[in-house]
Amino acid sequence: MSNSVFRTKQVEQSIEGTEASEHKLSKTLSATDLTVFGVGVIIGTGIFVLTGQVAKENAGPSVAIAFVVAGVVCALAALCYAEFASTVPVAGSAYTFSYTSLGELPAWIIGWDLVLEFALGTAVVAVGWSGYIRSLLDNAGWTLPSVISGREGADGFGFDLLAALLVLVLTVVLVIGMKLSARITTVVVAVKVGVVLLVIVAGAFFIKAENYKPFVPESVPQEAGDGLHAPLIQLIAGFAPANFGVLGIFTAASVVFFAFIGFDVVATAAEETRNPQRDMPRGIMGSLLICTTLYVLVSLVVTGMQHYTRLSVDAPLADAFKATGHPFYAGVISFGAAVGLTTVCMILLLGQTRVFFAMSRDGLLPRFFSHVHPRFKTPYRPTILLGVVIAIVAGFTRLSALAELVNIGTLFAFVVVALSVIILRRTRPDLHRAFRTPLVPALPIVSVLASLWLMLNLPAETWIRFAVWMAIGVVVYFAYSRRRSLLAPGREAEARAARQLD
Ligand code: ALA
Repeated sequence: MSNSVFRTKQVEQSIEGTEASEHKLSKTLSATDLTVFGVGVIIGTGIFVLTGQVAKENAGPSVAIAFVVAGVVCALAALCYAEFASTVPVAGSAYTFSYTSLGELPAWIIGWDLVLEFALGTAVVAVGWSGYIRSLLDNAGWTLPSVISGREGADGFGFDLLAALLVLVLTVVLVIGMKLSARITTVVVAVKVGVVLLVIVAGAFFIKAENYKPFVPESVPQEAGDGLHAPLIQLIAGFAPANFGVLGIFTAASVVFFAFIGFDVVATAAEETRNPQRDMPRGIMGSLLICTTLYVLVSLVVTGMQHYTRLSVDAPLADAFKATGHPFYAGVISFGAAVGLTTVCMILLLGQTRVFFAMSRDGLLPRFFSHVHPRFKTPYRPTILLGVVIAIVAGFTRLSALAELVNIGTLFAFVVVALSVIILRRTRPDLHRAFRTPLVPALPIVSVLASLWLMLNLPAETWIRFAVWMAIGVVVYFAYSRRRSLLAPGREAEARAARQLD
């Protein structure tokens, strides 16, 4: 056993660790389940809420190009994710992958980073969901008191009661079991995709060509004194911070990137997949392709229906129909969006508990969290703990800043995964890879550069928040995880017992 922070977990050991019964999740998912699972989490707040905001503030109709840019960055990362997921079919996603290749500290960093991505991502989607529900309630003539309507626009105290309640209900669903949630997911995904198709097909009839002029609006300087909110790249390169123009497309891409988050969550379910070697790459790439196509079409339709300067920020898809005099469609879309966001929230929460579970199984977080429920076979302890914490976060936080923080964390994970593909090919060329990333190392290198580019297009303040979160993670690692890891010297007996007894 090594004392190095770069000690690695053997791939075989990772797979073996999951065979122990007490820590074992049941293998029930197929490639189709994974694709449904993927689409279920990918389509969400990104397209239903952020599209309007980004078109209005950063890119105009060229938000459609921003979706293509973000989609390409994700496809590159997905090709790397797919190789890892099919080589290391155990719970934990990028965390597990990097534990076998880069070493324990990088793995810890990535796990800590994923906690940020999934926990805050869940909160962001819950807040978006609550907005749609409130808009439906408003239509019916019921208005909630502002004190329980969330942070947006609240002057003093504001708690988003609906968002918090959603997270708590979903926590119970996840504790009860994967099977139940997969079944619910299938129905809800059908409703959500149906609504997106409705927007595309019905909306296409209301497009007016003049709304596309200008397709790429001219660059507009940002207000002075807004320094930290400017994209880091503009500050570093010495540009006067601006919105719109060609640079605006990249700023937009770094925000709408949120709309793609989730395909990596598919990889976290590898351990619950019947044939991960074959089904995992299919599930990841399939769901990504479907979503990119839908996003580009939806953004073209919405910016064609209404001039970008008049798009609504809260419910742009529904409001574009209201604006063209079709309130019935608007109601259906609001309803579908609210239903659809439920699964997104649930699957992000699921991904979150699985990463936490994997980290505790390795001893980096207390082992208490790695026991599965005797009857439901779910990691109920981290599910309950995280569910409650996220419900509180969702109740008290604003949407936009959080989404940017989620994006930087996810892009960082992409960088680590792409680097890991290159490293693992060199250190473990012998491993069976059901799916091989093409053009290694060129493709992973391009993936790293593309992810870094989007990160640089996020605001400077997002970088600061991210750095603070990661610094806390490093402190926790050296104060707790490094000694408690099952790979630490003196923990051999415990590691053996964990593998055999469990
Ligand atoms: N991609 C998911 C969404 O847009 C997280 O809500």
